[in-house]
This record gives sequence, structure tokens and C-alpha cells, in this order.
Amino acid sequence: MSNIGTYKFKTEMQKILNILVHSLYTNKDIFLRELLSNAADALDKINYILITQSQNKEEIKNPDLPLEIKISIDKDNKKLYISDTGIGMTKEELQQNLGTIAHSGSKEFLQRLSEHKNNLEIIGQFGVGFYSVFMVAKEVRVHTKSYKKKSPSYTWISTGEEGYKIKESDFQKQRGTTIEILLKDDEEEYLNKEKIKEIIYKYSNFINFPIYLDGEKVNKISALWTKNKSEIKEDEYIEFYKFISKNQDTPLTYLHLKFDSPLQFSAILYVGETNLEKLGFLKYEHGLHLYSKKILIQPDNKELLPPYLRFIYGVVDSEDIDLNVSRELIQNTPVFSKIKSNLTKKLLDHFNKLAKNDKETYTKIWNEFGRFFKEAIHLDLSHRDKIVPLLRFISSKSKDDKELISLDDYIKRMQVDQKEIYYITGPDLSSIKNSPYLEFFKKEDIEVLFLTDPLDEFVFNYLIEYKDKKFKSVENADIESLKKTTEKELTEKEKEEKQKNEEKIDKLINFIKLTLKDKIVDVVKSKRLVDSPVCLVNAENAPSAHIQKLLKMMTNESLKTKKILEINTENPIIQNLAIAYEKNPVAEELKDIIEQLYENSIIAVDGISENPDKMIKRIEKILSLTTKLLTK
Ligand SMILES: Nc1ncnc2c1ncn2[C@@H]1O[C@H](COP(=O)(O)OP(=O)(O)OP(=O)(O)O)[C@@H](O)[C@H]1O
Ligand SMILES: [Mg+2]
Repeated sequence: MSNIGTYKFKTEMQKILNILVHSLYTNKDIFLRELLSNAADALDKINYILITQSQNKEEIKNPDLPLEIKISIDKDNKKLYISDTGIGMTKEELQQNLGTIAHSGSKEFLQRLSEHKNNLEIIGQFGVGFYSVFMVAKEVRVHTKSYKKKSPSYTWISTGEEGYKIKESDFQKQRGTTIEILLKDDEEEYLNKEKIKEIIYKYSNFINFPIYLDGEKVNKISALWTKNKSEIKEDEYIEFYKFISKNQDTPLTYLHLKFDSPLQFSAILYVGETNLEKLGFLKYEHGLHLYSKKILIQPDNKELLPPYLRFIYGVVDSEDIDLNVSRELIQNTPVFSKIKSNLTKKLLDHFNKLAKNDKETYTKIWNEFGRFFKEAIHLDLSHRDKIVPLLRFISSKSKDDKELISLDDYIKRMQVDQKEIYYITGPDLSSIKNSPYLEFFKKEDIEVLFLTDPLDEFVFNYLIEYKDKKFKSVENADIESLKKTTEKELTEKEKEEKQKNEEKIDKLINFIKLTLKDKIVDVVKSKRLVDSPVCLVNAENAPSAHIQKLLKMMTNESLKTKKILEINTENPIIQNLAIAYEKNPVAEELKDIIEQLYENSIIAVDGISENPDKMIKRIEKILSLTTKLLTK
């Protein structure tokens, strides 16, 4: 046989190989999962070609071969063979597929590795494909014969170090691929039949083609989705999830659908346990596997669900899918659109049902995947009525910082004449809870939604209202109309005193206006404050403080919209200040105190002072005044 080439691996591949060969992985068993999954992929591909090109079968090598996988153990020579009757590879494909890093798993692996240098356990979750075989192999030979009539058989040989050789050979007599593995000396456990069986049960039990181990059939081959729900055990659903997702977590929920008319289709859909996007290093790209009569038409179809449901794993099988339509065009067919809209509806219904009947599970789903529902609000108008009820919030009536409430909960316990849904925004719960804007609502026992995710406010701005109730920020609420606590009757004397007091306050207000004239548009008596002496509010229609702060974070420039300073006339600081002003209107300290009150109101919103040095000086002056008083 002619030796037709020696090739070097690309540097990036050498990196992967280096890690694998020196086996930093704790779980070496997965090499078999990877090889069996490749064999099954190759069988899926030929199966699809056979049914879609059945008219020109003469173009396909060995069209009548049974589609199956065979594993054999050669104890004497410490070898393992895994062969399939799949599509096989041409020489170019061998070079492309086993010489470069074009496939999903390994790319992800490398990326993850660069991000998590010290965390190899996390990497163990992700398939690294074919190359994982070098964890256990001294040398690997891939014998293969493409389904394309004219392509001869080749053997690819590598020790997983610098490169590989490809030569023509006659090892692979029929269409398909055989992986010949010469095991490392300390990896002999893989010559044990029971060990191999155990790995197959664990990772490869749902492969849709028969697997024979030394002649004995070892898997069940059942397309789980075609069975009746009553025949399937919980464990099987979970195992199937692990199989299709290659994740090791336990799904939070799943949904098994079966329809016969007007359209035949079945599906199993899963929600995993963790949102991988939340961790910040990837976007879900997996899609659903699309079958027709158990034959894989398209792995990872991303069009079967709207993009905001990209975290769902699953399979869909429909015999109504027209196999004469090319794979690329399938998604434009009416059957496909109907399946898609059905899957979306059923999933959203499922979430709504969980939200009602299984709060614990729904809370987990919301905490992990809630962002996708917020994303859906402006992306999917047609399902808005099913999506908005899925939204959850912490509110002033949550029993703790975890109790989630829905908009329907809110509406149910609204006050009789309340017309708006109130919310307050802020960077975190503790700053929200201490906000002066909240004081009035606490006193009047009006529920307020606490929004810490900036997306929430965009969602509300976008929705405008829910069930005829407008969303309203507490900053912009019409406090006067909400006030219920009535003021008690005053005696003549009290009235007189109040009048005098008012006059003092009005004078003080004028003085404050003068002192802060460059910083604010107005000073008014507050109706919302209960405890705090002052707070800043937006002039009518100005963007909310939170949005302004976000803009500042994004553009690094503040909007500089001047605000209104509200003062709490019942607050002792304000009352004392009014008296002090009347006594001595030119006292230097008055200005410092007013400046500091203003500064405090900014810090209450921003969390930081714009000019801490000046502020410290000012506070020191005020402190020296108070300490002097204490000595008297
Ligand atoms: N038994 C086989 N028959 C035909 N082609 C194969 C076989 N094994 C591997 N290949 C080819 O080699 C490629 C690389 O395989 P590898 O397992 O590394 O990546 P992948 O299967 O594409 O992605 P991943 O396994 O990470 O999901 C495959 O995409 C396939 O084209
Ligand atoms: Mg693979």
C-alpha cells in the first residue's frame, strides 16, 4: 500500500491533545461516549442520505448494509475496535475532520480552558469529541471507507503527539469506519466487557442504532419519544436529557408531547438545571433535534423554537415533514411553522401551569431562566398574554428577599381604588428598601415592586400597562391622590401656631432656593416623605433616576437634568432649621447644612457623593458646631 502522507496537527489541536494525553481529565470513560456518538452521527447521516436519495441508490456504496455499531475487544493485543456502517470519510474529510479543530466540542473546550485555567472539573462536562480517545490510547488507527462510490479506503494513524499519517489501505472492506485503539498500559480496564457495558448504559443508552459488544446486543434502541408516557420512567426521561444535552445536571422540568391530528408529531422538551448563559461564557447554540419517523433529519435545529427559548433541549419527531424538501428549506414549510407555534404555546402553557401548581420548581426556573422571559416580552407579541404572567418580582410585601410575586398577585391585593402598579428601581434591595421615595407607600400600605434588574424597567416601559393598570414609578406617582390618612381637627390655637410655623417654613424654602439655585429647579413641601428630611424628585416626565444612572454608566456622562428638592416640613431638622433661620438669617452654618442635606439626597439615589472632599470639610464644620453645643 502506498504511503500517501504525513501531516502535522495545527498548534491549537496540539494544545488540546497535550492536555488530553497527559490526562488532566478525571473521567476518562467519556472517550467511549464520544466515539459512539460519532458513530451514531455517521449512521444518522447515511440514514438521511438513503431515504432522501433513494432514487439513485447506485451512487451509494453498500446501500443495504444494516445500520449498526460493533465493538470488539482484543485482550491479547490490548486493543479495542469500534466500527460503524455510517457515511465513512474520504481522504479530504479525514484531513479536515481529524486534523483540524472545526467541531463544536473541542472549540468550546479550548475557549473554556482559557477562561477557567484552574478549573478542569468544569471542562469535564463538555465533550471534546474524537481526540478524547488519546486519554486512553497509545496509538489510534481510523480505517474508513466513504459512502461515495469512487472513494477508496484509508487508514489514519496517530499517537496523538505531533501529527498523523494517512495511507490507502484495505482494512475497511465495506462502507463505514472502524476506530482501532491500542490502549495505554495502565488503561487495561477498558478490555473488560462489563466496564464497557457499564459505560454504554451510562452514556450511550439512547443511541438509535443497535450496538453489539463482541457479538452481543447491549443497548435497547428505543426512540423514547415514540413510547407512551405511562411506559416511561422518570429516570429514563432524565437519562435521555443527559444523553441529548451532554450535560450532567438533572433537568428542572420536562414536557412530553404527542399529537396525531391534524398534524402528527411528538416531542420531549427539557429545561436544564443551570443557565449557562448566566455564567457569562456562552450563548446557547444547541437547538432541538428534528426527526422524521425516528430518522434524524437535522441535529440542533435552532428554528423550531423562538430564540428566547434557546435554553430548551429536546427532540421533535414528525412524520408529516416532507423529506423531499432540502434541509435548509424545511423551516419554510407550513408543517414546520405549525410545529413551531405548537411547541412554543405548549411550553409557555407548561410554565404557566408550573407557576400555578408547582411554585418551588417554577421559582427555580425563574431564578435561572427568567431573563429569557423578559427578553421575550418585546420579541414575541403573539404570545405576550402567556409571557407576562410568567414575570416575577420581589415587592414591599414579599415575606423575605426571596419571595417572588407575580403581576396577578399584585393586582389581586391592590387597594380598592388603586389604578396603577407602583415600582421602584435601584441597584440592590437594601438601597431600595432605604429609599425615601418608599416612605409614603409604606405608610399608606401600598405595595411597590422592587426592580433591581435594569431590564425590568425597560420591560415596564415597553408594556405600559397590564390588565388596564399602568406601570408607574414611585418617583412619578401622584402622591396627593393616594393619600388616605386624614389630618385631625385643629383647635383655634393650634391653627394659629400652624400658620406661624408655615410662614417660617416658607421663608426657609426661599432661602434654600437661593442657596441651591444652580443645582435644582425648585423646592417644595413634600407629601411623600415620612421620616427623611429631604429627597430629590424628577421634574415632570424626566427619565427616572435609575435610567439616568444607567445612562451615566454607559456613556460616562450624566444627563444633568435638574431636579426638585422636596422637604419634609414635619421633620425636626427642617423645623429647627426654620427656627434657626428666623433667629439669624446670616449664620454661615445654615448654608453648609442645606448643602449637606442636598448632598444626602443625591447619595440616597446614586450611592456615592460627587465631591467627597468638599463634603468631608462641610461635615467637619457641622460636627464642630454640634460638639460645641454638647459641651454646653
Ligand atoms: N465514525 C465516524 N464516521 C464518520 N465521520 C466521523 C466519525 N468519527 C468522527 N468523524 C468525523 O470527524 C469529525 C470530528 O469528530 P469529533 O467527535 O471530534 O467532533 P464532532 O462530532 O463534530 O463534535 P462533538 O463530538 O464535539 O459534538 C466529525 O464531525 C465527523 O465529521
Ligand atoms: Mg463527536
